[in-house]
Amino acid sequence: MNGRRTKIYEGKAKTLYEGPEPGTVIVHFKDDATAFNAEKKAVIEGKGVLNQRISEYLFTKLNELGLPTHFIRSLNMREQLVREVEIIPLEVIVRNVAAGSLTKRLGLDEGTVLPRSIIEFCYKNDALGDPMVSEEHITAFGWATPMELDDIMHMSIRINDFLTGLFLGIGIKLVDFKIEFGRLFENDMMRIVLADEISPDSCRLWDMKTNQKLDKDVFRRDLGNLVDAYQEVARRLGIIQVNETPERSRPKLVKTD
Ligand code: TMP
Repeated sequence: MNGRRTKIYEGKAKTLYEGPEPGTVIVHFKDDATAFNAEKKAVIEGKGVLNQRISEYLFTKLNELGLPTHFIRSLNMREQLVREVEIIPLEVIVRNVAAGSLTKRLGLDEGTVLPRSIIEFCYKNDALGDPMVSEEHITAFGWATPMELDDIMHMSIRINDFLTGLFLGIGIKLVDFKIEFGRLFENDMMRIVLADEISPDSCRLWDMKTNQKLDKDVFRRDLGNLVDAYQEVARRLGIIQVNETPERSRPKLVKTD
């Protein structure tokens, strides 16, 4: 499958290949985990499969809701076919509960419920460490127009409302998450769609009762086994069966003689 494909881009957790038709891209979810702008690195077997399956599930639900995304379909356990978009160079962070960089920046206790959901923007630039920026920077530097930013904020709030309810239903608190958007060009028309991924790599997910972390903080803060945590999310979403592991769900060679 990897043979003669043309690689478009390799990121920290995903590789993009040219898709089978113009305007399509194949996203390959790697097992690589990084944190703190890649200062901390590991390869965690099974992570890519779990992220692909969780992201597929959430993007499919969002598409069904009428929220436009780049997702077309999964190709296999690790890869999905998506529409080619022009990525807007922003990390859009939605927060419901104080955690991570917000607690440090504002001196809040982790777990403090925020007065309302808060949207933050970071400029996607690894060399600068993805600095936080305001709407003023975004429109002044032309990373997005005021109208695009309006769309992005409305869509982010809808995504937050939907995901908060979905996770609440399976006993998980959606503390915060990061999403990215792209411009989709279709016959002289352009619209903003959700791109990238939504997975435990890009969300904070806490068990409602125990506050156990079920996301990448397990890796960032050495809190235990990351695959166990991601599997728990996938199990509760009904994506994998109780005893299924990503390894078991891979195709196996079968002896026929
Ligand atoms: P933060 O508290 O570290 O700013 O993170 C906020 C949310 O964004 C959290 O759910 C983790 C996610 N995130 C990413 O997906 N990629 C990143 O590079 C960072 C820093 C955070």
